[in-house]
Amino acid sequence: MTEHARQGASRLGGADLFHLDLIRKYDKAGPRYTSYPTAPLFHEGVDAEAYARTLRRVAEDRAPLSLYVHIPFCNTVCYYCGCSKIVTKQYERAAPYVDLLCREIDLVADTLGHGPENPGRTVMQLHFGGGTPTFLNDDQMTRLMHKLRERFSFADDEQGEFGIEIDPRECSEHTIAVLRQIGFNRMSMGVQDFDPDVQKAVNRIQSEEVTLRVLNEAREHGFKSINIDLMYGLPHQTVESFDRTLDTIIGFSPDRIALFNYAHLPHMFMPQRRIDEGDLPTPQEKLNILEHSINKLLDAGYVFIGMDHFAKPDDELTLAQQEGKLYRNFQGYSTMADCDLIGLGITSIGYVGGGFFQNAKEMDRYSGALASGNFPVFRGYILSREDHLRRQVIMRLMCDFALDYRTFEHQFEIDFRRHFADELRDLEDMAEDGLVELSEHGLRVLPAGRLLIRNIAMVFDEYLRKKNDGVKFSKVI
Ligand SMILES: C[S@@+](CC[C@H](N)C(=O)[O-])C[C@H]1O[C@@H](n2cnc3c(N)ncnc32)[C@H](O)[C@@H]1O
Ligand code: SF4
Repeated sequence: MTEHARQGASRLGGADLFHLDLIRKYDKAGPRYTSYPTAPLFHEGVDAEAYARTLRRVAEDRAPLSLYVHIPFCNTVCYYCGCSKIVTKQYERAAPYVDLLCREIDLVADTLGHGPENPGRTVMQLHFGGGTPTFLNDDQMTRLMHKLRERFSFADDEQGEFGIEIDPRECSEHTIAVLRQIGFNRMSMGVQDFDPDVQKAVNRIQSEEVTLRVLNEAREHGFKSINIDLMYGLPHQTVESFDRTLDTIIGFSPDRIALFNYAHLPHMFMPQRRIDEGDLPTPQEKLNILEHSINKLLDAGYVFIGMDHFAKPDDELTLAQQEGKLYRNFQGYSTMADCDLIGLGITSIGYVGGGFFQNAKEMDRYSGALASGNFPVFRGYILSREDHLRRQVIMRLMCDFALDYRTFEHQFEIDFRRHFADELRDLEDMAEDGLVELSEHGLRVLPAGRLLIRNIAMVFDEYLRKKNDGVKFSKVI
């Protein structure tokens, strides 16, 4: 039984996780570690040529593949949005973008040597993110999926996780049926908050009826796991108002719930300047909302997976965590073993052959590169052995809430306690505060440390330790 399974056996309640004094003490900005090293460390020394070489090098590998496809368009802007998107009502922009994606898919598949004789590695995971993927119409989506299936070899529906982010405001039942038919079996929906005042202040008007309709239709059409995104810290939110949203969502009974802390960074995200800061809940009210939400979700039977994510006890994320088989990538938690991830589309990030590769953020640059037959990669990062070690330490901390030093000693041929002597010394304060328990062969994150897992992970971040400053992250809670 893993550490997490052992603790899960005696179900944690909100009071075990939420310790106001500790949250206040450790309240500082930190990365979310969907990658390590984090994206601000990527640099332009890693270019299209490096990506092509890496793809050729991994072509003969046998391990499964993961694909991420970024569809950047949204037809209206939600003022809180920190995602990478292009706001436009010009639906005619979708078709040329699909053409570009098809070109990029061909370029990747050709470089990997895919052809009639070589179907390539099995795609176990596919994720369409945005922006709003359903900005594409059903025909465009179908064409794109056919292209992917023509050039890559996909696992069957039982084995593969094929997910898509849906904006329920523009998703007809016909679209849901088409999405399922072309192979999607997981869905994630943005909701954030149902309160009319909140919705008005963030320019996202989305009724309960519309959300419930899409959720039910997705179930009827055989989507296996449905996630709903919520956010706390938005304008006009109070414990009472958010409680009503939670009641509604719990009533819908989605398999997974993500509860994000609104990251208000108006210097980085222009639309956030349209949010009146006077309308934002105070830091204390925000913490009250978080505490109340955690209590409510746990009481309703959800399990806290870690880093904003909750899942039902029988959801595969929960089961994977109990078996020590949970992973983390750019889409959050995943049950797929750490595998090469190919990013497709503007701004997307891939992880291939031990390196990160990010595509151009400007449409001109993205299309220009593809027009001349080059990969649109503009920056990336090749991990050193030390980076790999620390990446795995951070991954296991976030997924297992525990480290077994012997695993790393075996794999990386190090003496863990000597290698991380400074880090373990720094953790002693956290041990004294009851966040972690240190022993000879490992460490265990105690319930009071779970909400502060980012702080614990940050101790192992070599670049933060070197005070690689000038990089702004959102607050951990
Ligand atoms: C990549 S976005 C795309 C979701 C999809 N376009 C939709 O709106 O339904 C995924 C989620 O990120 C979260 N998110 C967006 N902006 C955020 C911010 N500033 N701080 C925290 N979470 C944010 C929201 O919960 C959103 O549903
Ligand atoms: S939250 Fe989703 S729909 Fe809204 S602007 Fe961001 S990406 Fe677009």
